[in-house]
Amino acid sequence: MQAILYDPPPIPPDTDVDRALVDVILKLNNKAPDERFPDAATALVALCEATNRRLPPETIEIRESYLQAARFVGRQRELSQLTAAVDTLADQADKGSPGSPWLVGGESGVGKSRLLDELRIRAMVKGAAVLWGEAVAEGALPYHMWRVPLRRLILSTDLSQTEAGILKTLLPDMFGDDVIAPEGASTTSFWTQSAGCSSARHVPSC
Ligand SMILES: Nc1ncnc2c1ncn2[C@@H]1O[C@H](COP(=O)(O)OP(=O)(O)O)[C@@H](O)[C@H]1O
Ligand SMILES: [Mg+2]
Repeated sequence: MQAILYDPPPIPPDTDVDRALVDVILKLNNKAPDERFPDAATALVALCEATNRRLPPETIEIRESYLQAARFVGRQRELSQLTAAVDTLADQADKGSPGSPWLVGGESGVGKSRLLDELRIRAMVKGAAVLWGEAVAEGALPYHMWRVPLRRLILSTDLSQTEAGILKTLLPDMFGDDVIAPEGASTTSFWTQSAGCSSARHVPSC
């Protein structure tokens, strides 16, 4: 996991792929964000040059993708509030701070997801691991919201045999046959002990 996150990817020694293309691929995969292409358009130009191809024409889909990724405007108050919470969390991470829950509310299309995307990008630039989970109103599996974030957390956390055994009941494909749920253990008791969720604050959205 650490190697995937931080070590440069290996170049197969006997590859017959053109060196110019290998360089583009390495730049795309560079672990240091500053060493990658600054944007998708620059990457596309480099890829076309490396493969002696002409730039593809701009299709409706490509034009729409620019619109969907339009520059973030406004929402400075909300963004500063949430950024301050992330900064506090980063400052206190080594003191075992649990962070703070926030509720972002508002009508559909008002910009909740986009606001959180901006926050996610800022937090990742600061080196935070950002995880997300989704809840559904009906028909969800138990602990539905935790299933996706847990997959990532399991990879980067040292789990005791007991914790691994209990988590295996939620995510069986993440553990080998050597992990067995302890007698009498239940996901409920695990979560009662370990999940700390207190009051939610509210970011007004209009
Ligand atoms: N502050 C903003 N600046 C630029 N575009 C935005 C902003 N907020 C929302 N959008 C755009 O408006 C559309 C709807 O926003 P979205 O975040 O999906 O809404 P919600 O999650 O509240 O339903 C998206 O295309 C999004 O990129
Ligand atoms: Mg949304």
